[in-house]
Amino acid sequence: MRETRQTSDPQNTALHRIRLWDPALRLFHWSLVTSVCTGWYLGRFGPGIMTLHFYAGYAVIALLVFRLIWGLFGRWPARFWDFLYGPRRTAQYMRSMFVRRPSYWAGHNPIGALSVFALLAALAMQATTGLFTDPDDFLNRGPLADYVSDDWVAWASNWHVTLSKVVLALVALHLAAILFYRVWKGENLVAAMIHGRKTVRGAVPQDIPADRVIDPPQG
Ligand code: HEM
Ligand code: HEM
Repeated sequence: MRETRQTSDPQNTALHRIRLWDPALRLFHWSLVTSVCTGWYLGRFGPGIMTLHFYAGYAVIALLVFRLIWGLFGRWPARFWDFLYGPRRTAQYMRSMFVRRPSYWAGHNPIGALSVFALLAALAMQATTGLFTDPDDFLNRGPLADYVSDDWVAWASNWHVTLSKVVLALVALHLAAILFYRVWKGENLVAAMIHGRKTVRGAVPQDIPADRVIDPPQG
């Protein structure tokens, strides 16, 4: 848990430009955006036969499996424990969240981290329930629905619909947070998710590999 390691030390105002998000994570993110949006749209408004919706769902599952592996064995700051913060650090961050200046945080900040975990968990449940979903229309049946009881299929089908609303709400919150950082705090988080580079504040932590630091520091 990132309780003691410093990434954005408020006492140290030096700014550094670093390579934050690795190419694999960025590719994961934008592929996830594409497949979730496609899957969601086709599920809600697509043609009666949901083959394409299923494919988008399988893409989401493949991406989540990659994210699990990357979260366990990838590089800083994509590993899960790099953005697993304790309550003290989260409360500390919340107190400064509405201050009108960029956070210069290296990685997911404690509040952003909560929304990342929530999004990944909701998507995992959404895609898993999809595998067992059967709307009883004699057209679409999740590929694993035959292997479980009817009760389980009914339960999964209800949750698949409910979770689609939860996912929508979490994505809306995600976008609102990004807009809040852009407009209120004057910090562009999207650029870092596109080209990977970000300005961060504080002593460059020891666990940032040297090849990630871009010199000279900018700010
Ligand atoms: C994260 C990925 C997924 C998203 C975002 C998603 C989203 C949705 C949405 C929005 C609906 C329409 C719900 C409604 O009626 O309001 C839906 C329905 C459905 N989905 Fe998915 N889905 C995903 C993955 C899957 C997977 C992997 C499968 C199966 C392989 C699947 C099978 C189905 C089926 C059979 C329905 C029809 C359910 C019904 O009409 O009651 N979904 N999905
Ligand atoms: C279906 C839509 C979306 C989903 C499901 C989604 C999901 C995610 C997830 C899971 C992460 C965490 C990355 C990781 O460590 O794995 C993330 C981060 C991020 N996303 Fe999205 N995203 C969506 C749309 C967007 C859009 C449209 C933008 C740009 C306008 C965006 C910008 C970002 C940024 C900037 C971050 C990094 C936030 C930070 O600095 O902590 N996302 N997103």
